[in-house]
Amino acid sequence: MQTAPIKPLKPWFQVIEDVGDHLNWSEFFGNDNPVEVDIGCGRGLFLVTAAESNPNVNYLGLEVDYREGRRTAMRLKRRDIPNARVIGGDGRIVLSKLIDRNSLQAAHVYFPDPWWKKRHHKRRLFTPEFADLLADVVQPGGHVHSWSDVVEYFEVIQETMNQHPKFTICDAPEERDPEHDMDYQTSFERKKRKLGLPIYRGLWQRKPLWSILLISCTEWPNSIPNTATVWSPMS
Ligand SMILES: C[S@@+](CC[C@H](N)C(=O)[O-])C[C@H]1O[C@@H](n2cnc3c(N)ncnc32)[C@H](O)[C@@H]1O
Repeated sequence: MQTAPIKPLKPWFQVIEDVGDHLNWSEFFGNDNPVEVDIGCGRGLFLVTAAESNPNVNYLGLEVDYREGRRTAMRLKRRDIPNARVIGGDGRIVLSKLIDRNSLQAAHVYFPDPWWKKRHHKRRLFTPEFADLLADVVQPGGHVHSWSDVVEYFEVIQETMNQHPKFTICDAPEERDPEHDMDYQTSFERKKRKLGLPIYRGLWQRKPLWSILLISCTEWPNSIPNTATVWSPMS
């Protein structure tokens, strides 16, 4: 059986192996505009809408499911959108290995897979390690947005982010009535709201560096050993 050739979608879609071992934003997007990532971008409704509404911001979708990532890239290509791209692969690898620290204006994580069965919870994206990754790559003053329709998982996300020492909690956006059939943040929000389900929205801001340094300093007296004792040449 003959299969259809895979359409070239570069530069809108690439896989992790295509982009080398480091993402230089100026080279990748061809400008120095701020960058935001959408982890698990799915069909790309957020990516397309955000990129068209904010031409001076660059958007990168990260999608482990190549078929979905390619669908999104096809939409970007058809509209010839210059400021949004998709990388196919595990978003955690991109965040931990390819992106400079403090280099993102925002990270968006909409409707991450809930992995309903308890024994599958370990596959969930939001863990303390994932929050640490977000804290590494989002710049001080930058934001993390995460929404879900699964209250139990959203509570986990809230707890993880609220407790993180490098983030503060912000007022999340209120629900608003859509102005047209595609006026939703993402395809999942559209689907779930059409079913009448409630949506839980979260927004956090990366603390400024000085406030983190302040916390470390106030912890010092208890956490650092008495250096005079440890390092004394006489001991
Ligand atoms: C429930 S869908 C939501 C899609 C989209 N954010 C939306 O709201 O319409 C979750 C998406 O996250 C993707 N995903 C799951 N784990 C991922 C990971 N580690 N890196 C990148 N994408 C991931 C899945 O393939 C899926 O497309």
